[in-house]
Amino acid sequence: MSPKLKKLDKEFENIFIVQNDLKSPISEAFRTLRTNIRFSSLDKPLKTLLITSPIPEAGKSFVSVNLALTIAQNENKVILVDADLRRPVIHKIFEGNNKPGLTNILVEDKKIEEVIRRVSGIDPNLYYIPSGPIPPNPSELLGSNKMQEVIEELQKQADLILFDSPPVIAVTDTLVLANQVNGVVLVLDVGEVSRDVAKQAKILLEKVKAKILGVILNKVDMGSEGYYYYYYYDDERKKRRSQ
Ligand SMILES: Nc1ncnc2c1ncn2[C@@H]1O[C@H](COP(=O)(O)OP(=O)(O)OP(=O)(O)O)[C@@H](O)[C@H]1O
Ligand SMILES: [Mg+2]
Repeated sequence: MSPKLKKLDKEFENIFIVQNDLKSPISEAFRTLRTNIRFSSLDKPLKTLLITSPIPEAGKSFVSVNLALTIAQNENKVILVDADLRRPVIHKIFEGNNKPGLTNILVEDKKIEEVIRRVSGIDPNLYYIPSGPIPPNPSELLGSNKMQEVIEELQKQADLILFDSPPVIAVTDTLVLANQVNGVVLVLDVGEVSRDVAKQAKILLEKVKAKILGVILNKVDMGSEGYYYYYYYDDERKKRRSQ
């Protein structure tokens, strides 16, 4: 870990997992995830991807940061946007301030150039936009025309735009964003989430016509390795194979 990335918050002590150990099983899992995402949409290049989960604390932010880093390591320019306007943490992970950020663009017409950041000591292909001040009306802002314009504009500036977001169940923030992006990845905390709750999230996302690319099973205990592992289930490819 570079000196710049020393932990701020105990919770995120080991967050830069793919940066710190390229050979670990988890880094390998993120590279597999990167490949699966790249091939999940063959007809149209996938430019915007939303990371969400049915319920809180599944590891959305953890996955967003490590996936963004893994994609950046592959020489693709990535912009990670903190669209969790209720519990934003991306700025904490990168040891920055959350202001100015996304909500400043949406409310005050600030330019992307004024809020986008890079983190020294981290891959130069990785950029991020923090949340900005927490607004009273996150859903309204995320579902606004202005947000659509921002998404359009961001796509011109990078190979992939990743959005971290709040959980699907309970608030509508993620649902209003889900149909504005090319694909959605659901993070499931295997120890916490029930089949019914996972299904409910899937139904909600399908209702708004979101394209669910797959799910990540997070926090799977790998036994003696003592590590968490990811498995990416690619719905689209499975469907194609069975056709
Ligand atoms: N695979 C993993 N390996 C190790 N730690 C993990 C893993 N996934 C998540 N964590 C840890 O679990 C905690 C919750 O993760 P995180 O904040 O990413 O979840 P979240 O879904 O974004 O939560 P919220 O709903 O509050 O936004 C963090 O401390 C994070 O570092
Ligand atoms: Mg989070």
